[in-house]
Amino acid sequence: MKDVGYSVEVIELYMNKVNVGMVRNPDTDLAYTGPCGDTMKIYLKINNDAVVEDAKFQYLGCPGVASSGSAMTRIVKGKTLEEAKRITEHDILQELGGLPKSKLHCLKLAVTTLKKAIAKYENRKGRPS
Ligand code: FES
Repeated sequence: MKDVGYSVEVIELYMNKVNVGMVRNPDTDLAYTGPCGDTMKIYLKINNDAVVEDAKFQYLGCPGVASSGSAMTRIVKGKTLEEAKRITEHDILQELGGLPKSKLHCLKLAVTTLKKAIAKYENRKGRPS
């Protein structure tokens, strides 16, 4: 993996499957398929209607998607919903210590999946997202 340009952090997240799986009784979950055909499904547990207590994800795709999901779920845990909505592709890229150029769009899949899951939660609560 190093030979194709993945960072040590990406390889570690991918090999250890960090936050890969499902959250029990999630407050919101959402699957999203990006233009490349890769899919991510996110599960969020939201405490007191305000703070992301737990976040896990499943994916169908490459190490770029997997590591982006791991970094995104790691970053979002402990954040308020408002903070979570402000997470950017750049934040995930920093956590990953870089990604090969051909995999930069994987960051967008992770951010979009997160934002759509939060929007689904807020819509259900009758709040504008
Ligand atoms: Fe599909 Fe990156 S290769 S999201």
